[in-house]
Amino acid sequence: MTSQNVYILAIESSCDDTAAAVMHNGKILSNIVASQKIHEDYGGVVPELASRAHQQNIVPVVAQALKEAQIEMSQLHAIAFTRGPGLMGSLLVGTSFAKSLAYGLDIPLIDVNHMQAHILAHFIEEDDFKKPPFPFLAMTISGGHTQIVKVTSYFDMEVIGETIDDAVGEAFDKSGKILGLGYPAGPEIDKRAKLGNPKAYTFTKPRVDGLNFSFSGLKTAILYFIQKEVKANPNFIETHLNDICASIQYTIIGILMDKLKLASKQTGIKHIAIGGGVSANSGIREALKSGEQKFGWTTYIPKFEYTTDNAAMIAIVGYLKYLEGHYSDQSVMASARLKL
Ligand code: KG4
Ligand code: ZN
Repeated sequence: MTSQNVYILAIESSCDDTAAAVMHNGKILSNIVASQKIHEDYGGVVPELASRAHQQNIVPVVAQALKEAQIEMSQLHAIAFTRGPGLMGSLLVGTSFAKSLAYGLDIPLIDVNHMQAHILAHFIEEDDFKKPPFPFLAMTISGGHTQIVKVTSYFDMEVIGETIDDAVGEAFDKSGKILGLGYPAGPEIDKRAKLGNPKAYTFTKPRVDGLNFSFSGLKTAILYFIQKEVKANPNFIETHLNDICASIQYTIIGILMDKLKLASKQTGIKHIAIGGGVSANSGIREALKSGEQKFGWTTYIPKFEYTTDNAAMIAIVGYLKYLEGHYSDQSVMASARLKL
């Protein structure tokens, strides 16, 4: 098989999105995501419901990805899938499906680490998007993850900082829940923050050593603050919602930027890449851009559909592993706590 003409089908099912993508030599031909709306009613992902929805969605999503790519299954060279980390019940659906398909087609099976995929999403071939040079720092921020990773090559990555409790997306979503906003609240907080005063209210930043993060204390501080203010003025939230959102967002961005600055200083690396759903946040994007002027950084943000959970990012890792001959055995198992 020549490495010049490689078609990969990738499957992602680690959390609440069922996704499939087809890649040809590093370029995306199709990228399908079925988001599970069912969790909105519960204010967060319900694992049992997520795995059931994956079970329902996986066949139509894969069929759609092949159709949009105009590819027959017989043209595929390998099946890549998310092995972990994630919710076990969700991972099992994608893992079992990928194994069966690779076995049936008699083509290589390639397991992919979801966190590595968020980072290597920067290497999907796209016009108008520059790729970070090695070494670079990658900050992965989403509803499930908050990490700073030193990336020395495609397959040499070191986690140098991560959250010790909640992920940053949870800080947005749980704050939103306290304010009575829908789930996920990140985009709504972002929208309202643009209309409010970021310095209206002050929330203490957590003190965590080194490059690690903590967000659970912030959530509690916001809860107590809101309870106190609402006691004095039952309309406090409605009348000050934009200022509250702006202040929460300002605090969260401050926490992220402090650690990123420290990571850059400690490693001497000024190429900074971000990924994960929270990288859609307009305030974070602005703060990164200002880092370009202030600290001489070059920053990298992938195309939006490659930052939230998707299978295109699984496909690029699958492709890079395929070129190296890094295949998986049929005995490979999903791993909820898979490390980088
Ligand atoms: O990567 P993602 O789609 O799924 C995982 O959690 O893995 O990220 C979803 C998270 C949610 O917590 C959501 O509130 C947050 O990303 N999010 C945002 C914004 N857009 C999405 N947070 C802040 N500002 C946004 N604009
Ligand atoms: Zn993710």
